[in-house]
Amino acid sequence: MNGGYDLSKGAYEKGVAFITGASSGIGAAFARELGRRGFDLVLTGRRRERLEALASVLTHDYGIQVEVVVAELAKDEDLEALAEKVHSQDQLEILINNAGFGAGGAPFHEQDYTVHQAMLKAHMLATVRLTYAALPVLIARGRGAIINVSSVAAFFPLPYHTMYTATKEFIRIFSESLAIELRATGVRVQALCPGFTRTDFHARLGFDPDRFYQTSGPLRAMSAEEVVQASLRCLARGKVICVPGTTNWIVSHLPCLIPRPLEHWLLGRFSRLMAT
Ligand SMILES: NC(=O)c1ccc[n+]([C@@H]2O[C@H](COP(=O)([O-])OP(=O)(O)OC[C@H]3O[C@@H](n4cnc5c(N)ncnc54)[C@H](OP(=O)(O)O)[C@@H]3O)[C@@H](O)[C@H]2O)c1
Repeated sequence: MNGGYDLSKGAYEKGVAFITGASSGIGAAFARELGRRGFDLVLTGRRRERLEALASVLTHDYGIQVEVVVAELAKDEDLEALAEKVHSQDQLEILINNAGFGAGGAPFHEQDYTVHQAMLKAHMLATVRLTYAALPVLIARGRGAIINVSSVAAFFPLPYHTMYTATKEFIRIFSESLAIELRATGVRVQALCPGFTRTDFHARLGFDPDRFYQTSGPLRAMSAEEVVQASLRCLARGKVICVPGTTNWIVSHLPCLIPRPLEHWLLGRFSRLMAT
């Protein structure tokens, strides 16, 4: 537990929030909430029209400045350009490394290697590069936060989604180590670990959102807005690992509670179901 960073007090309204993956889902929800709280925004993603439409609504509704940068995080030159942009924000208050995608549902060696590579870059390299670009600015200001979006899948192995779970685990442990390292600087780091959330994520994997997401009960999918509120509450309380929702919290703790062979058996069965 580190000291908190409470955005509700209005002390940060002149800052800039830099959000990757802002064209939909959790990233767009962060943009709407931080825009409402008076942050200027830099929004990135690949779907220009979605980003520009969101920017124009937020500028109109909240009178903030919003810049749109279209970038493919798996492309080295785009990532370097973004890193320079992050580093040049002298009012940088928050960096949210949120962009990500799912892939899998088949054995690791049968999946397209270029997709594995793109995932390594978009989830791990981009998070590392942009964090590295942001930290000198945040540390010089003596405050601010980095929120790295991981997943509840970061807490256990997930066969057939091997790259997803491994890259999300990297994000979690990277963030946790950094948070401890930066304790005395005033800069906070969070690993946000959502479970099922209603966004474009699963539709892109070919699932029908209306049938895939549970709307009630313990496995209810959360909204992106609920995930963002949970993240900002965790930030205010200084919680480094943020797992929104009670069921997700229990799931994230199961590996500590059950014997590993049983965990592997359960995950083998569950993952085969998800893969079909
Ligand atoms: N939804 C869930 O159930 C869930 C659960 C746990 C964790 N998460 C994590 O939450 C984060 C946000 O996902 P979401 O659920 O909000 O899904 P989403 O609606 O599909 O949003 C994903 C965002 O990431 C961007 N993105 C993906 N790959 C990119 C790349 N190579 N280069 C640049 N931008 C890229 C997308 O931009 P464009 O589409 O414009 O290219 C989009 O803005 C992801 O990291 C995901 O792993 C989601």
